[in-house]
Amino acid sequence: MMLDIVIMAAGKGTRMKSALPKVLHKLAGQSLLQHVLGTATGLGAARIVTITGHGADRVEAAVTAPNLQFVRQMPQLGTGHAVQQAVPALHDAGTTLILNGDVPLIRADTMRALVQACGGTRLALLTVMLDDPSGYGRIVREGHGHAGDAVRAIVEHKDATPQQRTIREGYTGMMAVPTAHLKRWLAALKNDNAQGEYYLTDIVAAAVADGVPVTAALAADETEALGVNSPLQLAELERRFQKRLAEEFMEAGVRLADPARFDVRGELLTGADVEIDVNCVFEGCVTLGDGVRIGSNCCIRNATIAAGAVIHPFTHIDGEALGVKVGAGSLVGPFARLRPGADLAEDVHIGNFVEVKNSTMARGSKANHLAYLGDATVGERVNYGAGSITANYDGANKHRTIIEADVHVGSNCVLVAPVRLGAGATIGGGSTVTKDAPAGQLTVVRAKQVSIEAWSRPVKKRG
Ligand code: UD1
Ligand code: MG
Repeated sequence: MMLDIVIMAAGKGTRMKSALPKVLHKLAGQSLLQHVLGTATGLGAARIVTITGHGADRVEAAVTAPNLQFVRQMPQLGTGHAVQQAVPALHDAGTTLILNGDVPLIRADTMRALVQACGGTRLALLTVMLDDPSGYGRIVREGHGHAGDAVRAIVEHKDATPQQRTIREGYTGMMAVPTAHLKRWLAALKNDNAQGEYYLTDIVAAAVADGVPVTAALAADETEALGVNSPLQLAELERRFQKRLAEEFMEAGVRLADPARFDVRGELLTGADVEIDVNCVFEGCVTLGDGVRIGSNCCIRNATIAAGAVIHPFTHIDGEALGVKVGAGSLVGPFARLRPGADLAEDVHIGNFVEVKNSTMARGSKANHLAYLGDATVGERVNYGAGSITANYDGANKHRTIIEADVHVGSNCVLVAPVRLGAGATIGGGSTVTKDAPAGQLTVVRAKQVSIEAWSRPVKKRG
């Protein structure tokens, strides 16, 4: 059977009160629309038609999926009007699955079940039982409205009578429709309702009038059916999503200090015996090896942290595109900052207020306090003193600093790149090093200390 998917994403999202189109607001680090597209991709549809309108250029530039095409809806006159724009792209003999760009957590199995319930002949609706259904279209059934009673119509919240507003069964915004019927019903839509819009949901009454069977199936899980219309709903859905993830991680053996204070905005891969304290945020792709411990309040993005490493509280790791690597058994933080291209081998120690960028540090090297290493290659067992920095940028270009094995850099040194410190060299504290330092020697670059014996402090003049 030919399947086409239509995703409605043209609305402004007035209730978000934001300049950003609603479907580009992020949940777990990914736009609402990209969540839907990612899930829809698994269904093997001939095409995925996304309706854009408000902020169309931005929306179209921000999302991707195979077989994706955009159709613009200008102006936006309602969900029925939105799907009308897709009509020329839809294959008459097939089924159309309609999804909402602002219902991000819908699962692929649920989409498949909906297409199956349609079976090419019925109008299949996905519904949800809600404690607070305000804002949702209500499923109006025959007789006393019991589950299983025939569906008569969907009534939008704003058009519903007080009695209809007591109906707790809401429409999720997802339906599967035989395409030929859909085209006919869309052509007949009117906008004589509270919002003066062409409601897609009016096709339900049209199907009933035509004698086409309507089936309404409840979503197994409320969370997947929830739509985002306001910042509050977005935050609530984010929390539900994170809670579900946290439970999955805990079932896999990860020890989270508090599943309510844990955020993954991307992909987190964990080994055995990983411990994560409160208020940590993981973004992009993060891998934590066996026995890794993450202290409280760490932000970690695009990084690989090997077995047994400990990241102490308040550490910020951002690998951006290059990534960050922390070797096995390394200790990082508290208050450390690892930037793109920081590549630490085993048993490296990075202490408080130390920043490392685009630098490799070999096994056993240490920079424990208040230091900067940028564009540096650091050998094994190097000790890099408090307050020392690489001056890697001359105002136009960046240059490398090479620190060979067993070098000791004293406190408060400036290593002016390009520069090389030979193996085993010692750099006296307070040195500004502009030339290579030979291996094995003490290099000191500062004024000699002098003491003046017969010196006395100035005294205040009187008179
Ligand atoms: C819609 C449904 C409602 C359902 C709810 C579920 C209609 C009339 N109502 O209401 O029954 O309970 O979703 O979340 O369908 N859009 C367009 N073009 C437009 C208007 C909207 O593309 O002209 C898009 C929006 O970007 C959004 C989706 O359609 O992704 C739903 O629009 P929204 O305004 O959020 O509808 P709801 O009031 O939530
Ligand atoms: Mg909505």
